Amino acid sequence: MEESNLCKHIAIIMDGNGRWAKKRAMPRSFGHKKGAENVVKITRAMKESGVKFLTLYAFSTENWQRSKDEVDALMDLLREYLDKEFQEIMENNVKIVFIGEREMLSEDIQKKIDFLEKESAKNTDLTLCIALSYGSRQEIVNTVKSIARNVKNGDLSIDDISQEMISNRLYTRNIPDPDILIRTSGEQRISNYLLWQIAYTELFFTNTLWPDFDKEELLSIIEQFNNRERRYGKN
Ligand code: IPE
Ligand code: IPE
Ligand code: MG
Repeated sequence: MEESNLCKHIAIIMDGNGRWAKKRAMPRSFGHKKGAENVVKITRAMKESGVKFLTLYAFSTENWQRSKDEVDALMDLLREYLDKEFQEIMENNVKIVFIGEREMLSEDIQKKIDFLEKESAKNTDLTLCIALSYGSRQEIVNTVKSIARNVKNGDLSIDDISQEMISNRLYTRNIPDPDILIRTSGEQRISNYLLWQIAYTELFFTNTLWPDFDKEELLSIIEQFNNRERRYGKN
């Protein structure tokens, strides 16, 4: 295996919108609005960095347990983002993909997502992957079920099950594993994000709250990554 230290894929857990708003005595939804604006800024910065894949954790399967008001506000922001950003996505040659349990999303959002994916499928400068209604354990359960089905109906033998096969059945099948994982807001946990995919990812935790995370910090993390030694178990 050739391990170049070139960063191809950055995954981000965009955390801290609520605390950002609280510090300003504003409602949580205001923090989410600023967070959504920052998605646009960081996507632009990514294009300049030359890194080809960006995966953003926008909403987890567990986030459905938040209050109805907050979930509604987040879904409204998402609708707005999907409508407003279409043009920018196309102009910037960004391919957009969504990973997660889409059937849990409302039908109008599912339609918008399908439309954006289809329209942007041939874009090549950056792949922006949005994890929406995403939970890594559920993703793995879905994969196990699909393999079990194939074994049961005789299309697959148990001995043929491999790491590669599992990778190829996850939602991220067309995306390389992340080189860098960033979590903002000071929490140092993974919160059910890309558990299989981050086996050898370099982790970066920053106290910056997501709405304040900027291009400078992103580039500084890429720089730190370039100076880290990845060993993959070897000496
Ligand atoms: C991240 O910000 C956005 C989502 C999880 C949707 P939070 O809403 O988790 O903000 P904090 O963690 O409460 O500050
Ligand atoms: C993780 O943040 C999910 C997203 C950023 C979308 P949370 O705020 O939901 O995670 P916990 O609850 O602190 O683990
Ligand atoms: Mg949070």
